[in-house]
Amino acid sequence: MPDLVAFLAFHAGLRRDFGRLADALAACDPADAPRRALIDEHLALLLRALHHHHVIEDEEIWPLLRTLAPGAGDVMDRLHAEHREMDAVVGRLSAVGRSTGEQVDDLRLMHRLVGDHLDLEEHGMVPLIREHVAADWWEGASRRATSGYGRDLPMVAAWTVDAAGPDQRERLVAATPVILRVLYRLSWRRAYECRAAQVFG
Ligand SMILES: [Fe+2]
Ligand SMILES: [Fe+2]
Repeated sequence: MPDLVAFLAFHAGLRRDFGRLADALAACDPADAPRRALIDEHLALLLRALHHHHVIEDEEIWPLLRTLAPGAGDVMDRLHAEHREMDAVVGRLSAVGRSTGEQVDDLRLMHRLVGDHLDLEEHGMVPLIREHVAADWWEGASRRATSGYGRDLPMVAAWTVDAAGPDQRERLVAATPVILRVLYRLSWRRAYECRAAQVFG
């Protein structure tokens, strides 16, 4: 059975961060440009990671499941359409020159869209992934997903570990390649914790 611990911890991070970014942005002093820049930077990272996650689902996971569990085609059509719906909000959140109020409203909208989407994905598809997808296929897809983060990998990896529940965290770190585990312990965790403290206070 595939180990979905990283996939689900990533979801937990998405469920958590759009809402608390909205709160952080709403509370940010308009004169505090350095903090605003850090919030914008964390948002941009989150949007890149979300986009990458959607690409892996749309181009690798759902196509495989369409052959292995064709009865879930309607759920996958809906998930695919919801990705496009989120893309529209991502486009607005990535645009320049928007007011803080517009950004806060769209972050709260993203928080709702992401939560509903992940409810459907976790109830409708996760059991089918566990039932039908081979563990080695999933491991290969996870490796491709990891390398696809490129320069964002240190921050995304530490963010994912941070979002995992305490019971999942040990399993997640144990399932990580040794070199990444060492880098995480030596520097990635500290860099992420510093960023999170600056963004969320
Ligand atoms: Fe997902
Ligand atoms: Fe998704």
